Amino acid sequence: AYTAEPFVPDGADLAALRRAAADCRGCPLHGPATQTVFGAGNAHARVMLVGEQPGDQEDRQGRPFVGPAGKLLDRALAEAGIDPAESYVTNAVKHFKFTQAEPRKRRIHKAPSLREMTACGPWLAAELALVEPELIVVLGATAGKALLGSSFRVGETRGTVLEREIHGRPERLVPTVHPSSVLRAQDEDRRAAYEGLVADLKVAARALG
Ligand code: URA
Ligand code: SF4
Repeated sequence: AYTAEPFVPDGADLAALRRAAADCRGCPLHGPATQTVFGAGNAHARVMLVGEQPGDQEDRQGRPFVGPAGKLLDRALAEAGIDPAESYVTNAVKHFKFTQAEPRKRRIHKAPSLREMTACGPWLAAELALVEPELIVVLGATAGKALLGSSFRVGETRGTVLEREIHGRPERLVPTVHPSSVLRAQDEDRRAAYEGLVADLKVAARALG
C-alpha cells in the first residue's frame, strides 16, 4: 500500500518534518507535482486549519493556501476574529494532484483518492502531535474523511464542535465547507456560501474563547 510512513522521521520537530516531507515518495503524487507543500504557520498555534491538498499556486510557491482559496480563507478568518498569527494551516494531502491536457495548458485540480489520503496521513498525524492545537478547523470533505473517517459528510456536522479521539488523543474539531466551494458558487449563492463559512468560523472562534 502507498504510505508516507517510512519517510516520517522519529522525534523530529516541525522544521525537520518539513525537510523530510520534501523527499516523500509515499505515493505517486510526488511525480508530476513541483514540490511538497507542507503545513505552515505558528508551531504553537491554538487552531489548526486542515484543507484538501495544495492547488496550482501552492504547488508553485511551496506554501499552503496562498492562491485564491487562501485569500478567501484569510478574509473569512479575519471576519470571524481568528488571528492568522495564531493559526497553523496544512492539508490532508501534501502534493498537488491535477490533470493537464497538454504541457503548458492549465493544470486542473483533481480530488485525491482515499488511498492517497491514507498514504499522506502520517504527515498530518505528525503535525497534530507536534502543534497540539486546541481546535481543528476541518475545511471540507477531504479533510473530514482524513481526520474522521470515510463516512464524514460536511453537511451533517458543519458549524458544530465535535469531540473525537484522533490518533489516540482527544481533539475538538469544527467542520466547515472548503473555501474553494465558495469560489465555485455564483452570485447570491456565493455570498450565502461565504456567509456560511464565516458563521462556522465564528463557532470555532467562540470555542477557542
Ligand atoms: N486548497 C486547499 O485545500 N489547500 C490549499 O493549500 C490550497 C487550496
Ligand atoms: Fe508523500 Fe503525501 Fe506527497 Fe504522497 S502526497 S508523495 S504521501 S507527501
